[in-house]
Amino acid sequence: MRVLGIETSCDETGIALYDSERGLLADALFSQIDLHRVYGGVVPELASRDHVKRMVPLMREVFAKAGLQPGEVDAVAYTAGPGLVGALLVGGAFARALAFAWGVPALGVHHMEGHLLAPCLEEHPPEFPFVALLVSGGHTQLVRVDGIGQYQLLGESLDDAAGEAFDKTAKLMGLPYPGGPEIARLAEQGRPGAFVFPRPMTDRPGLTFSFSGLKTAVLTAWQACSREGEPDQQTLADIALGFETAVVETLTIKCRRALKQTGLKRLVIAGGVSANHRLRQQLESMTAELKGNVFYARPAYCTDNGAMIAYAGCQRLLAGQQDEGGIETRARWPM
Ligand code: KG4
Ligand code: ZN
Repeated sequence: MRVLGIETSCDETGIALYDSERGLLADALFSQIDLHRVYGGVVPELASRDHVKRMVPLMREVFAKAGLQPGEVDAVAYTAGPGLVGALLVGGAFARALAFAWGVPALGVHHMEGHLLAPCLEEHPPEFPFVALLVSGGHTQLVRVDGIGQYQLLGESLDDAAGEAFDKTAKLMGLPYPGGPEIARLAEQGRPGAFVFPRPMTDRPGLTFSFSGLKTAVLTAWQACSREGEPDQQTLADIALGFETAVVETLTIKCRRALKQTGLKRLVIAGGVSANHRLRQQLESMTAELKGNVFYARPAYCTDNGAMIAYAGCQRLLAGQQDEGGIETRARWPM
């Protein structure tokens, strides 16, 4: 089965072709980061308009890369939510129009299911069952995964998502959007222990997260430093490292708990924050200690992309899911 996947939930237009026999055939991505950077975050209206502009050229690009004619597919999968409604509608309307013209089914895919399954596109995919840590700009969740569509939520954030905490913290430090990669880059020059921030909710049992207090702790430290004048580059790097370490340790503690609680040995990390090197390293050592393994996607498939949607759509269709007709889009949608 060959599926065209379309991702437009936020500020990345991603289109890809996945073949159940041959794997990923081609993918193309346009990131709107430069468009939104001047505003310090994503402007929904601008995002929708830009998705409209990119759709046709990117679709043509993936078919050309794969050596196929537009339309040589068995289905079209698109991100139906969660995300920005205007942006989702662009992808949904485009997918449905293509499917109608080509006489194939269209299927709405859950964005977080796309992220969750992205590591399955790699050379050594995880086998079911596993525990997944989903860490993106909008979600922080621990999920027990027993198969396609068999997801049990173990814990999630009460407030900010991990990626959101990176972005908001970066913003208050005067760093550009998106904050995750900026903080990670700065933290490389940071001195360990110069700033120590709380590890929220690790002192009580359970798998719930909360990241908004951590952002406030950074703000307090930042304001204290700023009173003596503009903080220098070293202070910036020290704060970045203190913040990143606090997030990574918190996530690691909860992942360890989730593995112990479920008795599972395989951990999958997915979503934009799973591109973070420090997080990957810490989870490598933690799972090695437990004689388990951690799986993640290449950096380009940690953040939003079309490949994960093509893959997830293909798995759903192979599992017998039907085209429900109509353009399904949902700003909020539990997985
Ligand atoms: O999955 P994603 O591309 O979009 C959503 O579904 O939200 O995740 C984007 C998030 C942003 O908050 C961004 O700052 C964060 O992922 N991010 C990172 C890194 N790369 C992206 N956070 C920490 N370290 C990184 N290297
Ligand atoms: Zn995402």
